[in-house]
Amino acid sequence: MSLTVAIDGPAAAGKGTIARAVAAHFGFAHLDTGLLYRAVGRRVLDGMDPIEAAQTLRSEHFADADVLRMPDVAQAASQVAAMPEVRAALVSFQRAFARRQGGAVLDGRDIGTVICPDAEVKLFVTATDEVRARRRYEELLGKGQKVTLEEVAADLARRDQRDSGRKTAPMTPANDAQLFDTTTMSIDEAVAKAIAAVEAAQ
Ligand code: C5P
Repeated sequence: MSLTVAIDGPAAAGKGTIARAVAAHFGFAHLDTGLLYRAVGRRVLDGMDPIEAAQTLRSEHFADADVLRMPDVAQAASQVAAMPEVRAALVSFQRAFARRQGGAVLDGRDIGTVICPDAEVKLFVTATDEVRARRRYEELLGKGQKVTLEEVAADLARRDQRDSGRKTAPMTPANDAQLFDTTTMSIDEAVAKAIAAVEAAQ
């Protein structure tokens, strides 16, 4: 069976957690597409041209997810993600991943709209700004990073604005996406709902 699950939404809404759990449940492969943009952003912070960084990206550049989780890398990622040439360079890898035999879950901002418009399941995961900032803050603290809640909230707000306001592949739900507001959901509830959505599509 080859089934594609597209999970989009803003940062810290829960899409990564849901994507990993759905992939584990069904034995599907999982790609966190934010890591591709973060890896390009990391290379740009190191002085590389963004288009060259995207065109020469290899899996080893996004293998170390922890280094790419830093807020400065997130900002750089959302800046390079607004460049059409950067996005174009990353399309074929993502589409090939989505077509994997055995099923694939991809999470990002434009999976249901641009990368996999024919995905069998599309979820758009949201939560209030306050809840998302709190979740990301706790996640970063847990990784030993020194950040304040205000800094995290400002980072998310800047990225949301840039990601939904850009001309190329803006963050927006696909017309046929199911909307998931995880503000008051537990992780278990959100995962169970997502699994049910995939089962319904099988
Ligand atoms: O999901 P994550 O927060 O890791 O993504 C980092 C940045 O990469 C986002 O703020 C967004 O600008 C960009 N991105 C994107 N399209 C995707 C995934 C991520 O533009 N499919």
